[in-house]
Amino acid sequence: MALVTWDQSYSVKVKRCDADHQKLFSLINALHDAMRTCQGSKVIADTVHELETYTKTHFSAEEALLQRAGYPKLAEHHAEHQVFIAKVKEFKDCVARAGAEAPISVLTFLKDWLSNHILQTDKLYSEHLNSHGIE
Ligand code: FEO
Repeated sequence: MALVTWDQSYSVKVKRCDADHQKLFSLINALHDAMRTCQGSKVIADTVHELETYTKTHFSAEEALLQRAGYPKLAEHHAEHQVFIAKVKEFKDCVARAGAEAPISVLTFLKDWLSNHILQTDKLYSEHLNSHGIE
């Protein structure tokens, strides 16, 4: 069963960002499956690496759109992204130490953080970006 499922309630009304968020949810779900079914530390480590890489790709792309549109809360948004990047790094270190024994609760924390970020922080930029022709 999926740990988190993207639906329209998560839409930020910007196609690129919605697609990225769906990809991040799918990586979290893949990681959850790998941990739950004990697929081994290599599969788990590779998936965490992909999650880390894609998180940075998404945050950079999103911040570039915010910059292009002169979004007034870019600095605060960037700071939140940095917090999440640090959390993913902590998770990666935890997986490197504990391998397949890494606790799922750490992944649940990342899932909750990302979901809340999309719902409470990302959604704040929808109107501003849309009004600058970014959809
Ligand atoms: Fe979609 Fe601000 O992360």
